[in-house]
Parts: sequence; structure tokens; C-alpha cells
Amino acid sequence: MYFFYLLLQLLTTSTALAYPSAPLNDRLIKTVYQFPNETWVENLAIRPNGKILATLIGSPDLWQIDPKSKDAQLITSFPNATSTLGIAEVREDFFAVAVGNWSYVTFSTTPGSYSIWTIDLSAATTSQPCGRVVKITDVPQAGFLNGLCSVPGQPDTVLVGDSDKGVIYQINLARRSSSIWLDDPAFKPNTTVAAQLGINGIHSHGGYLYFVNSFLRPTIGRVPINKHGKPAGPVERVIDQSPWPSNTGDHGDDFAFDKDGNMWVTADPSNLLVKVNVAKRTSVIVAGGLNDRNIAGDTAAAFGRTNEDENVLYITTNGGIAYPRKTGVEGGKIAALDISRLR
Ligand SMILES: *[C@@H]1O[C@H](CO)[C@@H](O)[C@H](O)[C@H]1NC(C)=O
Ligand SMILES: *[C@@H]1O[C@H](CO)[C@@H](O)[C@H](O)[C@H]1NC(C)=O
Ligand SMILES: *[C@@H]1O[C@H](CO)[C@@H](O)[C@H](O)[C@H]1NC(C)=O
Ligand SMILES: *[C@@H]1O[C@H](CO)[C@@H](O)[C@H](O)[C@H]1NC(C)=O
Repeated sequence: MYFFYLLLQLLTTSTALAYPSAPLNDRLIKTVYQFPNETWVENLAIRPNGKILATLIGSPDLWQIDPKSKDAQLITSFPNATSTLGIAEVREDFFAVAVGNWSYVTFSTTPGSYSIWTIDLSAATTSQPCGRVVKITDVPQAGFLNGLCSVPGQPDTVLVGDSDKGVIYQINLARRSSSIWLDDPAFKPNTTVAAQLGINGIHSHGGYLYFVNSFLRPTIGRVPINKHGKPAGPVERVIDQSPWPSNTGDHGDDFAFDKDGNMWVTADPSNLLVKVNVAKRTSVIVAGGLNDRNIAGDTAAAFGRTNEDENVLYITTNGGIAYPRKTGVEGGKIAALDISRLR
């Protein structure tokens, strides 16, 4: 971590736009569940019953958090790995997750350590809360598997981004195979920055695959997807250069779409939540701030799926451990923001 901290100090650049002077919408952000200090919550997916599945980067664990009762339960630990990363629902209550070795202490990956697993929670029982857990395939060519998403109409396919190699793989869950879906310059790490981390969050929405590249412009881009689930055109720019401030040069991590097609982007390690109007190519800071403690180190976001929480954006955080502020590091958590209450 200290290595990473020093590295980020080197990356620090001045920015024209200032951070919000006071954290925005803080009073609207609630903590659903907080893990102990030095727990980096990396990603999440929501079950049809509303429970939250959360992945951790510092241990190979998948947790389930009930946003109603606030109960948290470790549902499975994956063998032979240190981290769980991107997660997505592929079929009803059936999830795929990327597993491998990435260290936030050294900010480095172990190439060749990555694999894709599925968790069938439709088969879960009280005594077997993890349902059926299956290793689908190793992805030996991968440098750093990070964001993962499903593709509408393709129940046997997941896409997973490689932040190190700067490619997207397709994983065929039935054939248990992996191959390159798209290799594009827009997915690569920025060679002039110390953090060699390119494509980060990925999600399919409205016939496109959207992505964030943390350090390289375009910050947010998209690729059209055809009815066979294949790329059907060149990468398009959505947001070329993030207009929101970043002391670290890192312009975004992961994101969620709302019902109106806006992207809600987590900007770890800027501690900002940003709403992007895709049609207008504009963005606005919704929450957070330089020394914010409500969403410090926000890593990913997802909307609730029940009638009661369909407007609630659940946000995972690493507690600011990637870029400690003077306000200190806290345990990573799941926070909740009801966007219908925003002005
Ligand atoms: C939390 O972890 C950070 C990073 O290791 C450490 O600097 C800090 O002292 C810890 N805070 C507490 C309250 O233990
Ligand atoms: C990944 O980490 C696990 C747990 O520390 C270790 O057993 C395994 O050998 C590592 N994999 C590689 C490829 O280094
Ligand atoms: C652990 O991972 C290493 C590297 O990916 C692999 O060579 C080894 O077979 C794995 N061991 C087990 C028990 O899966
Ligand atoms: C790569 O990073 C540097 C330093 O942050 C930045 O000035 C440059 O614009 C980036 N390149 C692209 C293509 O985004």
C-alpha cells in the first residue's frame, strides 16, 4: 500500500475543476454494511431477491449482504487465489465471477492466476448458502481480469476485461473456453502513467458494451454488440476526458445504468460518484469529495431489484485504502443512495 501511495503521489496532477467544497448529498448516503479496516470491497451484483453479492480484493471471498436485515454472510471462498473481482448475473440467480491474484499492497497482479467460476444460487439452501459453485475455466492468458458482465440473449457467455493486457475476453460457460472478444487500443493501459491499468468496469446496455478506462482517454467508451453477442463496429467515445477532478489521474472504476439510461460512475480513488448523461455526453458530480468518508474509495455500483429499492444505488468502497486521505482509512463497505431523493 505504501508503494502504491508513493506511486500515486507521483501521478498527482493539477486539475482545472475543483472538488466540491463540501461533500454533496452526504446525508442521503446510508451505510448498509461495513467490513473491518483494510477490507477492499471490489464489486457487487444484486440477486433477484434483493440480496447483495459482494467481492473482496484482499481475500478470495464472496459475501452476501441483506440490505433489509443488514446481515452479512460469507457464502464461499475460492481456492488457490487471493482476490475476487467482477461479478454478474448470467441467468436467473446464477452468477459468474472472476477470481485471481491481485494485491493492493503492492498494487500488482499475478498474470496466469485468473479463472472464471459460476455460483448457482437458485440451488442455495439454508445449509448450503452458496448453492452450486463450479470452476468454469482458467484464463491462463489473462494478466488481470477485472470487470465482468453478461450479454443479453447470450445465456452461455460472459465478457471479462483484462486491465493489464487491455483486451476483452468472451467466456463460453457451456464449452468452458475463453477467447478474445475484442482487442482495441482504447482498452490499453496508459503507458505514460505508473499504474498500468487500462479497461476497468464493463457493462452491456441497450445494444452496446460500455467500458471505463481508468487512465486512458476516452475515459468512457462503448462498442455496438450484434444479435450474436459479437462486437459490431468501432469503439465510440462517450466521455473523452473526465471533466470531474482526479488527483490521481484515475478517471473512473465501475458503473451502473439507471432506468433512464444514465451511467452512475464510481471514481475511486477520487471519492466521487458521477452521473453521466450518455445521450448528451455530459456529467455531474453527485456525491463525495476529496476527504469524503461516506463513499471513500468507491469501487462499483448497482441498483436494487425489489419494488422497495429499485431507486437505491448500492455502492461498494475500499475505504480509501488505495489513496489514503488526511481523514484516514476506514473499512470498505456497502453504501446506499436513494437517487429519487436527490435534488
Ligand atoms: C486502517 O488501516 C490503515 C491502512 O493500513 C491504517 O493506516 C489505519 O491506522 C487503520 N485504522 C485503524 C483505526 O486501525
Ligand atoms: C495465488 O495465490 C494463492 C494463495 O496465496 C497461491 O496459492 C497461488 O499459488 C497463487 N497463484 C499463482 C499463479 O501465483
Ligand atoms: C493453483 O494455481 C496454480 C497456478 O494457476 C496451478 O498451477 C495449480 O495447479 C493450482 N492448484 C490447485 C490445487 O488448483
Ligand atoms: C496518459 O496519461 C497522461 C498523464 O495523466 C495524460 O496526460 C495523457 O493525456 C494520457 N493519455 C491519454 C491518451 O489519455
